[in-house]
Amino acid sequence: MNQLEKMVLAHGEALSSEVLKVDSFLNQQVNLEFMKEAGQLFYDYFKDKPINKIITIESSGIAPALMTSYALDVPLVIAKKKQGINMSGESYQSEVYSFTKQTSYHLTVSKEFLSSNDHVLIIDDFLANGQAAMGAIDVCQQAGATIEGIGIVIEKSFQKGREMLDQKGFDVHSLVRVESLANHQIVLKGE
Ligand code: G4P
Repeated sequence: MNQLEKMVLAHGEALSSEVLKVDSFLNQQVNLEFMKEAGQLFYDYFKDKPINKIITIESSGIAPALMTSYALDVPLVIAKKKQGINMSGESYQSEVYSFTKQTSYHLTVSKEFLSSNDHVLIIDDFLANGQAAMGAIDVCQQAGATIEGIGIVIEKSFQKGREMLDQKGFDVHSLVRVESLANHQIVLKGE
């Protein structure tokens, strides 16, 4: 069991059979040791790929993605959910529907920061139904960039995102795989 899995078991909370609360180290308070370890583990897995850029989605993907960009020594691009007033010029956009929140948003990346020369690693904090990951993939594909892999901190393996990404042939690496949250118990895959 890696350090992240230990932390999830010790400090995560199964709010329901669908939702894992990790506010104390990932979603609100950020635990530096957790993030350093996430960066190291993604580095160990992806280091031999010709990655020159990391893409994540604001906001909770930023911390693990930044640690990974530090470990791989490549820049980090943050896909925005809202187009800010300082985002001028042309951009790639993809509509993402969140089953959890039952709302849609437009993922936006400025064309300045993504091109067909890029070999990208997508990093995100959670993989549930895979809609956010699909939005990031879409944006990369619009740019003609090569997707070298997808790194996920916590995958809820009982939801359909992982299977969908596997079926599409992506190299997905999840650091913590949650098998079940039933009965307020966190059960990890392979436990
Ligand atoms: P999907 O992208 O895999 O389809 O997931 P979904 O739309 O269902 O998830 C929407 C948001 O909820 C995402 O955060 C995702 O990270 C988060 N999420 C999904 N399942 C869980 C869970 O069990 N626990 C926690 N803590 N978060 C979960 P977001 O809206 O992008 O938020 P943020 O990144 O700004 O924090």
